[in-house]
Amino acid sequence: MAVTYELIKTCAQTGARLGRVHTPHGIIDTPTFMPVGTQATVKGMSPEEVKELGAQIILSNTYHLFVRPGHELIREAGGLHKFMNWDRPILTDSGGFQVFSLAENRKITEEGVTFRSHLNGDKLFLSPEVATGVQNALGSDIIMAFDECPPYPAEYEYVKKSTERTSRWAERCLKAHARPSDQALFGIVQGGMHADLRRQSAADLTSLDFPGYAMGGLSVGEPKHLMYEMLEETVPFLPSNKPRYLMGVGSPDALVEGSMRGVDMFDCVLPTRIARNGTTMTSRGRLVVKNAKYASDFGPLDPDCSCYACRNYSRAYIRHLIKADEMFGLRLTTIHNLHFLVHLMQDVRQAIQEDRLRDFRDEFFENYGMAGN
Ligand code: GUN
Ligand code: ZN
Repeated sequence: MAVTYELIKTCAQTGARLGRVHTPHGIIDTPTFMPVGTQATVKGMSPEEVKELGAQIILSNTYHLFVRPGHELIREAGGLHKFMNWDRPILTDSGGFQVFSLAENRKITEEGVTFRSHLNGDKLFLSPEVATGVQNALGSDIIMAFDECPPYPAEYEYVKKSTERTSRWAERCLKAHARPSDQALFGIVQGGMHADLRRQSAADLTSLDFPGYAMGGLSVGEPKHLMYEMLEETVPFLPSNKPRYLMGVGSPDALVEGSMRGVDMFDCVLPTRIARNGTTMTSRGRLVVKNAKYASDFGPLDPDCSCYACRNYSRAYIRHLIKADEMFGLRLTTIHNLHFLVHLMQDVRQAIQEDRLRDFRDEFFENYGMAGN
């Protein structure tokens, strides 16, 4: 079964879209947030718990699984779904981002990237063909083109050359893709913070006719208004009958703002990462439950939340667990943060359905605080 996108409706107040992505492992209601399971696990969570909090799709990473345990082992296990016991959709990133942020001694050529493993220093090579072959072996429902994410800030000429190479790499990924009948390969628009390069990248990729398009190279340290500007320079050049994915973005304010600009999919390590640091996202903004002021606060993390943690445990108890280095504490903050974002997107979809996403946004920011994230 091929992966398809169904556009249900567009919000009358904003550019937001209500849709569904159909995959061999089930339906994803969009706009959606994808929890990150870098190493074939959402850190600390069982798949049942990730399902229970409402996630319809998770993201995993080609780079990490390629370095350890290796895609051949996962192929032998029957694919990533079976290996990790997650039967809902999976999207894998291509490694074209992690190789630039994690690997050592990397060298980029037209052919691909040579680098040393961040684990043991082994010399490895990733290219459009290798990254696509690895993702074919993993069997994820949505696979990503191998790209380069230029740093911010970067020289215009460098970003131009890099973006043009990313387009050539995208074409090679399409050619190498061995399972187009059950895995959708998404192209990734780059172009740094330059509107003309973004438009050119979008034009190059859409001419190749991918089943979906991602926007990469954002949330790399630029001010948020610049990211929103780049979205506005890109989204209008993408076809409306294909899903749009904003990579690496997961602060609550950006999920709402991105949805308003027509983004359908988001992922980020933010909710799970800050959870392990004792920080939670609530309808009233961030709450650092580790702080002393919650020592005898017997209320839930977020009175408006219906997650397993908020239904059953107090701020005081969760703070105690974290202070005592008990891992259950960090599991509870992780469950809560993921539930918060997954359900925020449910509220966003409801608001689109009712043509009131702009009103929803204003109300959300009033409670959450404009400083956001
Ligand atoms: N994750 C966040 N940003 C990016 C990007 O630009 N490219 C890829 N492949 N993954 C990302
Ligand atoms: Zn909660």
